[in-house]
Amino acid sequence: MNERDSEAVTGILFDKGYQAAASTEEADLILYNTCSIRDHAEQKVFGRMGAFRKLKEKKPELVIGIMGCMAQEHGENFFKMNPEIDLVCGTGNLSQIGDLVEEIQRGRAGARHAVPIQKLAIDRIDDDYGLDGIQYRADKLKALVTIMKGCDHRCTYCIVPYTRGVEISRSSESILREMKDLASRGFQDVMLLGQNVNSYGKGLDENMDFAGLLEKIQAVAPQIPRIRFITSHPKDAHTRLFAVMRDLPSVCEHLHLPVQSGSNAVLRRMKREHTREWYLEQIEEYKRFLPQGSLSTDFIVGFPGETEKDFADTLDLMEKVEFDSAYIFTYSERPGTPATKLKDDVTEQEKSRRLQEAMKLQRAISLRKNQALIGTSQEVLFESKTRRDENRYGGRTRTYKRVVVSSAQDLVGQMRQVKIVAAADETLLGELTS
Ligand code: 5AD
Ligand code: SF4
Repeated sequence: MNERDSEAVTGILFDKGYQAAASTEEADLILYNTCSIRDHAEQKVFGRMGAFRKLKEKKPELVIGIMGCMAQEHGENFFKMNPEIDLVCGTGNLSQIGDLVEEIQRGRAGARHAVPIQKLAIDRIDDDYGLDGIQYRADKLKALVTIMKGCDHRCTYCIVPYTRGVEISRSSESILREMKDLASRGFQDVMLLGQNVNSYGKGLDENMDFAGLLEKIQAVAPQIPRIRFITSHPKDAHTRLFAVMRDLPSVCEHLHLPVQSGSNAVLRRMKREHTREWYLEQIEEYKRFLPQGSLSTDFIVGFPGETEKDFADTLDLMEKVEFDSAYIFTYSERPGTPATKLKDDVTEQEKSRRLQEAMKLQRAISLRKNQALIGTSQEVLFESKTRRDENRYGGRTRTYKRVVVSSAQDLVGQMRQVKIVAAADETLLGELTS
């Protein structure tokens, strides 16, 4: 979603006549989009501030703005923490960022913060996402489309409900308009975005749910061969969704379903609103509907109170489900979240050991699953040349596996059949067959 926000903000600025600078040294304006999900992400941003300060010393008229989740989280405090910052714009005000920047540049003359900081209005998340009229796209092949934002769940470790607000869905009319536009411009792969796409439609005047939206998208934009979505919550991933995934030709056979832990005790403390058994049932159902479909997930290891036995349950769930891939994180305490009341009692060293062990197991599972594809034929949409000096091209299967092939001919943008000849844990090697 940050990627999409950055793209839309770029579009707003291009519409106002701004141009991309070749480097940060040459730029008159730097907007830094930020993520708060883990402390590591925040530290990276704070780590860049020294460099920004130096740039500003050399070029005092440079405008530096912070946007996104950290802006929402820290608000005006940013000005105190980092005086080189001119603008703080939260996730709820992004559609105004172009006007804010102009105002700062106009009223520059000495005033450090020419613009009052936008009040961080979580409850008035941009009308109709405000940004969807922006035509600019960073890519010609793949597009991101925000269909809802915010989250009504309250997982105890998670800062997202505080930085992205409550769930708000875009009207289907507005989404379908955007999809038609993307179809007419030849986009081949569209990712529908939301913190919790399965509960799409909640609070809308119209009678529409996520499965219904996918059906509508298929009907109005059948030229787009690949529709994906991220992220789903296990509690709202229903049979009807799996049926639609199976039946609609454009909806890709890949489900990202974060589980976080394989231990019921940990899931309870995380307030995940599902058990290990419920999750495994959903996965079984998914596999029944889409036997060739792929699965990915997120895990947090080292959550407060996670015992060796809890961690073993996580490894066991990993083995049982056989995810194609998994994003695994060590628990990071986020200020203001309910989990801060729990004692963060797993040592950093132990968290790190569990992370390594879980990653090792997942790599072995990913490798095994990828090796099972050797000899099969896959439809691959090619996205890029892997290296400038090589005749190798990288693309994705419908199940989101990365495939690399050698070809004398430029494959970028093409959809081709590929025979898989070798496999590693993150990449498949193939040969063109069509
Ligand atoms: N610590 C570690 N990982 C987190 N995630 C969310 N909050 C935290 C946190 N406090 C992970 C979850 C989520 C993914 C986007 O980030 O696994 O699914
Ligand atoms: Fe965070 Fe939980 Fe909402 Fe996902 S479902 S965004 S982890 S609160």
